Amino acid sequence: MRLSDCYNFHDFRTLAKRRLPGPIFNYIDGAADDEVTYRRNTESFEQCDLIPSVLRGVKDIDTSVTVMGQKLALPFYCSPTALQRLFHHQGERAVAAAAAKYGTMFGVSSLGTVSLEELRRSHSGPQVYQFYFHRDRGLNRAMMQRAKDAGVEVMMLTVDSITGGNRERDLRTGFSIPFKLNLAGMLQFAVKPQWALNYLTHERFSLPQLDEHVDMGGGAMSISRYFTEMLDPSMTWDDVAEMVQYWNGQFCLKGIMSVADAKRAVEIGCTGIILSNHGGRQLDGSRAGFDQLAEIVDAVGDKIDVIMDGGIQRGTHVIKALSMGAKAVGVGRYYLYPLAAAGQAGVERALGQLKVEIERGMKLMGCNRVDQLSRENLRFR
Ligand code: FNR
Repeated sequence: MRLSDCYNFHDFRTLAKRRLPGPIFNYIDGAADDEVTYRRNTESFEQCDLIPSVLRGVKDIDTSVTVMGQKLALPFYCSPTALQRLFHHQGERAVAAAAAKYGTMFGVSSLGTVSLEELRRSHSGPQVYQFYFHRDRGLNRAMMQRAKDAGVEVMMLTVDSITGGNRERDLRTGFSIPFKLNLAGMLQFAVKPQWALNYLTHERFSLPQLDEHVDMGGGAMSISRYFTEMLDPSMTWDDVAEMVQYWNGQFCLKGIMSVADAKRAVEIGCTGIILSNHGGRQLDGSRAGFDQLAEIVDAVGDKIDVIMDGGIQRGTHVIKALSMGAKAVGVGRYYLYPLAAAGQAGVERALGQLKVEIERGMKLMGCNRVDQLSRENLRFR
């Protein structure tokens, strides 16, 4: 199977599985506990049918949206994800370039493997910088100041990860950063020599967003220790309100699920919320974003930009979320498998396919513009 044989999410996933050592593939592919929420995220779209309209004079399809002050040519953005150079040596460089090519936003993770400054310098598209809440309040401010200095447009605080999810696939393979593989895990690296060669012949893996503040790169601290020792599970709305004020610009919370929390986000001055269960990787059993979308949009949709993520594999999934009232959606694994499969060429192919699917879907729905999609186009089974 080659890149030219990949027409959808499942094809890219299959190719990624062939190319990646098992522990790394399972780190991307896995989720928490029994992975119920992970499966449900996509299934929930299948519980909802589209009702198209015809003879509407469809001609120039405009897929653009404006979210958190950023005009995006497409109604989806690349959600922040960790460790991308582990999946392919081009890592974040590839994803940021592909996002810029298609005129959409790239999410830089604080656990990313290319520096935010480099990504900002080399790509013109809007960028959102995602980070976690640290015990050290000075460190939180230093990270925001750094993002400001780099010219990042949107700040994003992930609030659903005050402790790590129970990812049993990683426990089985021994996946951790730095690597501490068990024998079975090591064998799985040995059978993917091409990946190993690429990994070893490119620059050393590091976490530049954190290296300046925490000794991560030298292997002194594992990511799991970073979560338990550096992050602050006791953070409250007051802490976040201070951050929003400090940033004084576009600020969103990622990992909001309840109406009450969405309302609090409005009250403290956030300009966006990401309705997300972290791709099913944190609290298993939490509701699918799409199932929860109507409640959230009805409560705060006229006051704050509601973006949802989780489970998106098709243009029609994006169309359903937009019809329900999301301003835009985020994709994670949708671009990670193509990245792992073929680097920048893979991500470009995948984003291009999603764009074409959305355009085709809008035509078949009888809509020229995203704001013409509405709940009248949806029926739940
Ligand atoms: C993530 N996600 C994530 N979120 C975040 O806020 N910071 C991060 O560093 C990461 N890292 C990360 C790594 C991997 C491998 C995955 C799969 C996901 C969550 C991500 O931003 C997004 O919420 C989900 O990926 C959305 O679900 P789908 O599109 O993957 O189904």
